[in-house]
Amino acid sequence: MKRALRFPEGFLWGAATAAHQNEGMNVHNDFWAWEHAGNHTADGTVSGMAADWWNRAEEDFDRAADLGLTTLRLSVEWSRVEPEPGKWDASALGRYREMLQALRARGLRPMVTLHHFTNPRWLSERGGWLQPEVVPAFARYAAYMASTLGDLCDIWCTLNEPGIYAAFAYILGRWPGQTGFLPFVRVTRNQLRAHAAAYRAVREARPNARVGLVQHFAGFEPADPGSKRDRFVAALGDTTLNWRLIEGVVTGRLKPPYGLGLRRHPGAVNSSDYIGVNYYGRHPLRFDRDSPSTLFASPGEVRPELAWPAPFQDREIDPDGLERFLLRLARYGKPLYVTENGMADAEDGVRPGFILTHLAALHRAIAKGADVRGYYHWTLVDNYEWAEGWTTRFGLFALDPQTQVRTARPSARLFGEVIRANALTEEIVEAWAPEVASAVFTP
Ligand code: FCB
Repeated sequence: MKRALRFPEGFLWGAATAAHQNEGMNVHNDFWAWEHAGNHTADGTVSGMAADWWNRAEEDFDRAADLGLTTLRLSVEWSRVEPEPGKWDASALGRYREMLQALRARGLRPMVTLHHFTNPRWLSERGGWLQPEVVPAFARYAAYMASTLGDLCDIWCTLNEPGIYAAFAYILGRWPGQTGFLPFVRVTRNQLRAHAAAYRAVREARPNARVGLVQHFAGFEPADPGSKRDRFVAALGDTTLNWRLIEGVVTGRLKPPYGLGLRRHPGAVNSSDYIGVNYYGRHPLRFDRDSPSTLFASPGEVRPELAWPAPFQDREIDPDGLERFLLRLARYGKPLYVTENGMADAEDGVRPGFILTHLAALHRAIAKGADVRGYYHWTLVDNYEWAEGWTTRFGLFALDPQTQVRTARPSARLFGEVIRANALTEEIVEAWAPEVASAVFTP
């Protein structure tokens, strides 16, 4: 008999995107300003028109619907909706309504993220995520979005990857922000408070909405398992970046290094209806005394034994890591969504096997009891990749940003076949990536 791994009835199949990476011309946010300040992106490019979703998202929604996707994750751009504090832009809001309606008309359930890394310039000029004022400002914006778009969307993400945002902007200095351990801690505390306030605001406006935090789970492992120091930095990265905030939205407490875990933020207790899991791979960490990014000391006073690793340089493919994270998360008893998973592969030589092995890992997690409700591939169409500029290609569809022409990669068709079967079948694996058959159909 032919083997097949079937997904639960009603399992959501989607793709994930983000406003700044897709829409183009997000001139009112801090990333736009930073890109134009020069020398910040790997290839010197700016986001520009990006994938031009402000004008042509519907064409890509058609592509998504043709593949059989049943959901799409996108973010709304705070700086468009509220270009000046307290002033709402009706035309921007109108465009978002149009986009959500277009998704629904195509049978795609929208999942909307409120913060995907970018900030209105007026907010960053006032200190951005370092200042406590970000909390009421974010809650006001969340309430406004939920009351004006909530009839079209019932699943919301407050913050996308707060740990990555805080690390890249406030530790590594690779995104607009201010590096240093104290700023990093302050930002993380404000993230928990802002998430909690937004959670309550959305639920108040739309009692039936499901609202959650989306966290990046990086598979930190010691580069040399025999080295105490490597083990130390890997454990530090795992606890600090993967788990502390997730614990925070469950218990309301932030443990070290963000707090002592003594005070409870009352609004944060049980403030995630589900957990969004962004997973890309394994990160071997080597203790590096010369690391430019130091968590526990200010630059110039690096205490080598406490140096913070530069965590994202080497990423390795490791589908088992996804299964492990999902199973560790299952203990919270909440629904889980894989809200991002993908790889940069312009040639699409490796991506087919990547998709199949990660879906098989997800399937194993479900079989072992994790309540995983959906999978969002990052991403539908190549988009602008933050500090990497246009150097990485994550799309199921290739994009030429100059001409805006899209071309389906083989992975798009493969993903479509999986969705239609609602299963990984032997035929699909044989047709697209026979080399991974034994990893997909483990005994
Ligand atoms: C994630 C981000 C997303 C994209 C992918 C490749 O960390 O959430 O915006 O950059 O990585």
